[in-house]
Amino acid sequence: MNTAPAAPEAITATAAPSAPAEAGAERTRKFEKCVEVLNRYHRNPAKLIPILQEIQESYRYLPEEVLVFVATSVGLPPARVFGVATFYAHFTLKPKGKYVIRLCDGTACHVRASQPILDALRGRLSLTATEQTTPDMLFTVETVSCLGACGLAPVVVINEDVHGQMTPETAVALVDEICTKEQGA
Ligand code: FES
Repeated sequence: MNTAPAAPEAITATAAPSAPAEAGAERTRKFEKCVEVLNRYHRNPAKLIPILQEIQESYRYLPEEVLVFVATSVGLPPARVFGVATFYAHFTLKPKGKYVIRLCDGTACHVRASQPILDALRGRLSLTATEQTTPDMLFTVETVSCLGACGLAPVVVINEDVHGQMTPETAVALVDEICTKEQGA
């Protein structure tokens, strides 16, 4: 059953009363997006998964304070919302880069040498299996199972863009291209 959620203004005002103005503005921005999504789903707890999906699309991850806010808003215990957010591999509680590079390591891609591509991408961005996001928050490199484009193996997806028949060189060239674009932005 829904409970009446606290007004976003009240939550943002009490979240960090002594925080620097910049941090406060960032918090307000986060909750504004949440409220927008929650209102669209009428704060319906049965819509928790699509709510979390949309919020994650906005922030590229699910910040802890946002999960608590969602729980309060839809009238569920925070532990339940955290449980859902940690159960599904699709959700992440850690921030990701502006460009999320997903390298397929499914069978077709693996046998067509996806591993050297992964090594090249990690080498180019100084990342590892445990450090998947660059300190400037520009790139995240992760592996996924079959992306459903086996005919294009090996496959790399950067955000929503699918790149097939990759090699270590062409994958790194894509990263270089993005870096050049970002530097000129
Ligand atoms: S195994 Fe990589 S797309 Fe299917």
